[in-house]
Amino acid sequence: MPIEIVRTPCALQARVKDWRSNGLKVALVPTMGAIHEGHLDLVRCGRETAQKVVASIYVNPTQFAVHEDLSTYPRDEAGDARALDAVGCDLIYAPDNNTMYPKGFSTQVLVGGLTQYLEGAFRPQFFGGVATIVSKLLLQALPDVALFGEKDWQQLQVVTTLVRDLNIPTRVYGVATRREADGLALSSRNAYLNPSQRNIAPALYLALQNLCDQIVHGVSVKEGEAEAKRAVLAAGFSSVDYLCACNAQTLEPWVQGEPLRVLAAAYLGKTRLIDNVGPA
Ligand code: PAF
Repeated sequence: MPIEIVRTPCALQARVKDWRSNGLKVALVPTMGAIHEGHLDLVRCGRETAQKVVASIYVNPTQFAVHEDLSTYPRDEAGDARALDAVGCDLIYAPDNNTMYPKGFSTQVLVGGLTQYLEGAFRPQFFGGVATIVSKLLLQALPDVALFGEKDWQQLQVVTTLVRDLNIPTRVYGVATRREADGLALSSRNAYLNPSQRNIAPALYLALQNLCDQIVHGVSVKEGEAEAKRAVLAAGFSSVDYLCACNAQTLEPWVQGEPLRVLAAAYLGKTRLIDNVGPA
């Protein structure tokens, strides 16, 4: 039997309630579909911590700005369902826009502080949309655990913050970034890259690794960041939104002694790639 797909909060809640009343733990993997091995890793990790795994597939319009790729974002529900089924996902939650944002919807969840930096500075609508939809998904499913990729490091910190601040009874787990053999982080947006851009793309990860190593070995952050940006542009990236060393939790500019995370967003043609690394 193919994997079950439910499309309403009521149907989702009925399934989760049934599992929990039988003493089973439930994990939620929120996605926007276009499922790749990185998402499947989240499901695999979910299976290690819970007996039942739900994946949500919903391309959330409120986290896209008008000029962004909402209409072209890759969508393939049947392919996604097959991939999720194959790794033992138990249920797919795939609501539509009217279900998630019915007429009159007027609430937004805003996380302060860390959202002003990096992605928040370049995509001002992004974290309001993410925090709102993730809150809805968590409150609809009420999972024991929810899994998010470290690839979206800042998003992971935002979700961790909102779950803590709103006392949502779910444990948030970050899962390591899945990479291609040449280091490129898996992303649904890699599908936009043409073959020559695909060859250039791993330069972002390489620059982040070098910068992280240099900082760990005492090179000045300013010099290291400037050098890393030069390397990314020299490799063929069109522009760099940011490439910098930050406090891993607050996303403020890094200072010696704090937990380090090095993060970047850069354009290859029209495709915007993000990635991040921490000390080995
Ligand atoms: O990372 C994503 O795919 C999305 O931002 C998320 C967490 C599913 C919210 O729409």
